[in-house]
Amino acid sequence: APHDAPAFIKSQIRTIPDWPMPGVQFRDITPLLQRPKTLRVLIDLFIERYVEAKLDYVAGLDARGFIIAPIVAYELNLGFIPIRKIGKLPYRTVSESYSLEYGTATVEIHEDACQPGERVVIVDDLIATGGTMMAGKKLLERLGAVVVEGAAIVDLPDLGGSKLLRESGLPLYTITDFP
Ligand code: PRP
Ligand code: ADE
Repeated sequence: APHDAPAFIKSQIRTIPDWPMPGVQFRDITPLLQRPKTLRVLIDLFIERYVEAKLDYVAGLDARGFIIAPIVAYELNLGFIPIRKIGKLPYRTVSESYSLEYGTATVEIHEDACQPGERVVIVDDLIATGGTMMAGKKLLERLGAVVVEGAAIVDLPDLGGSKLLRESGLPLYTITDFP
């Protein structure tokens, strides 16, 4: 990727004020997916980050992580692990609940998604409170995986999630951030 790739990526993220509710600045990554040039720069940043990481899998968080993670897995010649919202995975699952601004959410993983000691990176589009990424980390660790890093396009540092995740011992790679 070019040296100014993170700034280029940031410039192509669209902000929608007051969506899905008043006060939220929604950081929309779909413009990055729309054009071949931006999609390639985006994916190349993740590939360069992990090409030497000796990973076994790339895990993705439902739903926007599912857009990015399998492309990264394919290019690294790795498999993809889906971490899904509750009630979608058909086989035996392990689940983790976490709190949202209002109420709770639950995510699940298949119990045979990976083996103890296998090295996994978790990919999502964005880190806000960090709850989703933290739940993904816990699920993989319950299967005995080594979670090498969490990766996202966007960090919202003011929401404190990235700090919490790093304090929990999870290294993070984020391409850009917004106040
Ligand atoms: C968004 C985003 C992350 C998560 C970040 O997903 O794609 O997965 O929220 O927030 P957090 O750090 O506070 O957990 P959302 O739950 O809106 O679901 P979607 O991917 O189905 O749109
Ligand atoms: N998920 C949580 N907060 C978000 C935001 N501000 N933009 C996009 N996705 C989000």
